[in-house]
Amino acid sequence: MEGAGDQFQQQTRYERGHVPRDDRGASAEPAPYKTYPQAQRVDLPFVGDMGGPRLYELIRRRRSVRAYADRPISAEVLAWLLWASAGITRRQRGWTFRAAPSAGALYPIETYVSVHRVEGIEPGVYHYAVQEHKLERLKAGSAAGALSAAALDQRMCERAAVVFIWTAVFARTTYKYGQRGYRYVYMDAGHVGQNLALAATAAGLGSCPIAALYDDECNAIVGVDGTTESVIYMTAVGHEA
Ligand SMILES: Cc1cc2nc3c(=O)[nH]c(=O)nc-3n(C[C@H](O)[C@H](O)[C@H](O)COP(=O)(O)O)c2cc1C
Repeated sequence: MEGAGDQFQQQTRYERGHVPRDDRGASAEPAPYKTYPQAQRVDLPFVGDMGGPRLYELIRRRRSVRAYADRPISAEVLAWLLWASAGITRRQRGWTFRAAPSAGALYPIETYVSVHRVEGIEPGVYHYAVQEHKLERLKAGSAAGALSAAALDQRMCERAAVVFIWTAVFARTTYKYGQRGYRYVYMDAGHVGQNLALAATAAGLGSCPIAALYDDECNAIVGVDGTTESVIYMTAVGHEA
């Protein structure tokens, strides 16, 4: 029986001669950045070259790690992970480009972090303000337990020093690409996730991607509606036990 996924794949195909026109202009362009002006801001350290193993070694060493030690990570390392996965790496003629590629340079993925054990940063749920390279605090107090429960009771979320939570603001991409944009949004998230995995390996940390999650529970943790913006992917990070 054909399910929603099969229909999605078929209905978003491009066929020669039938590629939809780019008819942007009919509606307002979605804002490329999300900010929380009322939120308390946390400065992040400047990110320089972290050095570390060569790419060959990083690719060879990266593994999904699900058991984490109590040891915290530093704010410098968290800043590195945020920059390497979602940070701005080039500004050119009014455009900004980020560490991971994005279809149409539209960057639909927003990054939130559930901080559990990071030196100098209180446990809580934060949004990464990409342009400012700062964290915006959305909720004080550790969300580790709730997040673990929301990840189909995967306890690694509770044990991790930090969990990256990625949402998609779908309209940023569908505004240009229509329904096919949904394909691109998920690809974009994959690129961000792989950058994070390699950056964590470079910092001597373990990480594990997580897509097994109760959507509504995860959306509630970061405070998004699940329609215009929805959690689609997460990654736990910490020192391997
Ligand atoms: C999209 C995606 C979703 C995943 N979701 C989970 C998850 O919810 N829980 C988990 O333990 N591992 C999850 N993984 C990790 C895979 O199980 C892991 O990548 C795979 O076993 C290969 O092992 P490796 O990452 O060590 O190479 C996920 C990986 C991907 C790419």
